[in-house]
Amino acid sequence: MTSDPHTNDRVAQSVARKDDHIRLALEQRRGPASSNDFDYVEPVHHALDGIDIDEVTLDVDVDGWVWPAPIYINGMTGGTDNAERANRALAIAARENGMPIASGSLSIALDAPETAPSFRVIREENPNGLVFANLGAGRSPDDAARAIDLLEANALQLHLNAVQETIMREGSRGFSTWLRDVERIVEAAEVPVIIKEVGFGLSGRVLRQLRDLGVRIADVSGAGGTSFARIEDERSGGGYAYMHHYGQSAVNCLLDAPADFPAVLASGGVRSPLDVIRALALGARAVGVAGPFLVAAMDGDEETAVNETQRWLTQTRQLLALLGAHTPAAATGIDVLLRGRVREFSELRGID
Ligand code: FNR
Repeated sequence: MTSDPHTNDRVAQSVARKDDHIRLALEQRRGPASSNDFDYVEPVHHALDGIDIDEVTLDVDVDGWVWPAPIYINGMTGGTDNAERANRALAIAARENGMPIASGSLSIALDAPETAPSFRVIREENPNGLVFANLGAGRSPDDAARAIDLLEANALQLHLNAVQETIMREGSRGFSTWLRDVERIVEAAEVPVIIKEVGFGLSGRVLRQLRDLGVRIADVSGAGGTSFARIEDERSGGGYAYMHHYGQSAVNCLLDAPADFPAVLASGGVRSPLDVIRALALGARAVGVAGPFLVAAMDGDEETAVNETQRWLTQTRQLLALLGAHTPAAATGIDVLLRGRVREFSELRGID
C-alpha cells in the first residue's frame, strides 16, 4: 500500500474485483455448457481418413515460434489468495502438460507490488514453460516491460476490453488513445506481443488495423463462453442485461480474419476438444481456454487441473488422428459445413 489514500482505495477495489470475477465466472461456467456458434461448424466425418495416433504431433507454429501444444491456458487472474490458488493449480497443469499459460492482468501487481507473488507463482511452478504476461491497453511501454520482467515472460498478452470497462461501474471511459498505445508497446516490447479481446471478439477490421501497426499474433477471444458483460453487470447492480451476449463469436471472427494476418489464435466459448478442432479448421494456429479450466482448478485441486488439461490434449490428439491430420496445422482446411447463423454471417461477409 502507498501513503496516498486514493491509490489505496483503488487497489482495494481492484483486489475485491478479482475475487468477484472468479466467483461470478465459476457461477456462469459450472454445469453443462450452453450452445454457441461452434455448434454451427460441423466437421464432415470421412470414415477412411483416420491415421495412427502415434503419427500425430501436437506442436504448432505461431508466426515462426514453436509452441508444444495447440491449447493454451488463457489469461485470467492474480492479485488475491484465491487467485493465487487458481494460478498455482493452472501453472502446475501447464507444466505437467507442456501447455502455454497466461497470467491475469498484471495491472494490480504494478500498482500494488505486495500482490505480485500471486502472479509470480505461475513462473515459480513452471520455470521452463511458455508464460505470457497479461496487461490492458492504455498502459505505457514501461509498464509493459515491468509486467514482462515480473513473470520473466516469453510474450506479452495485451487485452482490449472496452466493453467490459464500459459496463464496469469503476471502469475507464476513455479509449481514444488505445490504437496509439498498442503501437508504442509493440514497437518497444522485447518479446512477442499477442493482442487479445476478453470475450467480445476482434473483427476483421480490427485485425487489419493491428496488422498495419505491426502486430503479428492476435487472439480473437469471441463471445459465447465466459461473458464479462454479465460478470460486470452482476457486480455493479444490473441494468445491462441486454449486453450479456454482445460481440462476435470466435467462429465469426475467424471467418472474418484477413488471410494475410500472420497468426490468428482463437478463444472464447471453446468448450471441448471438438471445439478446438473446429477453431483449427477455421484457421486458428492455437486455441485458448479460460473458464472451463478455471472450474477444474477451483472446484477441484491441482490434480484435477492437471487431469482436465491432459484430457483435453489427449482427446484433441485422438480427434486429429480420426480426421487424418498429422498436426494441428493440418486440421486447417478439413471439410466443415457451416450451418445456420454462422453460414448467414459468412454469406453476409462475402466469405465462401
Ligand atoms: C478472464 N479473462 C481475462 N482476459 C484478460 O486478457 N485479462 C484478464 O485479466 C482476464 N481476467 C479473467 C478472469 C476470469 C475469472 C476469466 C474467466 C476470464 C478473459 C479470458 O482470457 C477469455 O478471453 C474469456 O474468458 C473467454 O474465454 P472462455 O472463458 O470462454 O474460455
